Amino acid sequence: MIHIENMKKIYNPGENEVRALDGIDLDIEKGDLVAIVGHSGSGKSTLMNMLGCLDTPTSGKYVLDGQDVASMTDNQLADVRNKEIGFIFQGFNLISNLDAVGNVELPLVYRGVSKNERKQLAMEALKSVGLEDRMKHKPNEMSGGQQQRVAVARAVAAKPPIILADEPTGNLDTKSTQEIMEILKELHRSGRTVIIITHDEEIASQAHRVIRILDGRIEEDYCNR
Ligand SMILES: Nc1ncnc2c1ncn2[C@@H]1O[C@H](COP(=O)(O)OP(=O)(O)O)[C@@H](O)[C@H]1O
Ligand SMILES: [Mg+2]
Repeated sequence: MIHIENMKKIYNPGENEVRALDGIDLDIEKGDLVAIVGHSGSGKSTLMNMLGCLDTPTSGKYVLDGQDVASMTDNQLADVRNKEIGFIFQGFNLISNLDAVGNVELPLVYRGVSKNERKQLAMEALKSVGLEDRMKHKPNEMSGGQQQRVAVARAVAAKPPIILADEPTGNLDTKSTQEIMEILKELHRSGRTVIIITHDEEIASQAHRVIRILDGRIEEDYCNR
């Protein structure tokens, strides 16, 4: 489903260049639960931006679902981001003046889903993350763990096949971290491809496959159990 060949991302080419990705070769199978781990500055977010078609590499190849990403138009890329991938970020990125339902509905507006169906999908997604009693709450009326569950609901409401999470538990306590992990594992069990980017070894140990990156290169790639 994901095929990456000799991908490089070089910021500020020249004397002070940063090789954020320095020759990544990577294949990810449909339906896998993968952790990409590495220390701060190792290139994790840069790789996530590439995987999510949010940025373009300096060189190398990215084939997603049999399609060469470099050959896609801006519209096609927007479509992939909107329909194929659900994004979860460390900082929740919720809209403060919208309640939980409103936040989860928002990306569905851009997909042209009708108002009724939007509400239906949003409520279904919020239920699936255990927030049926927080539908009308605004972000500042919820705990960090609950806010991240809203963000997960927003990512999955349209049922994208791929979930990309960049440090999804980075701002959470231990209990909320495990709650989010259980939700991500459930999404994996339901057939999604789940890619979690993290610096947390405990989280990585819960993935089926661990890809360790260091200085923009894959240092280690192994399966748990
Ligand atoms: N827009 C940018 N311009 C220049 N350097 C950048 C930019 N984004 C990231 N970097 C550098 O690329 C390297 C990898 O960053 P990043 O992918 O954010 O790492 P991580 O997510 O693993 O902490 C770091 O050295 C960082 O300073
Ligand atoms: Mg990062």
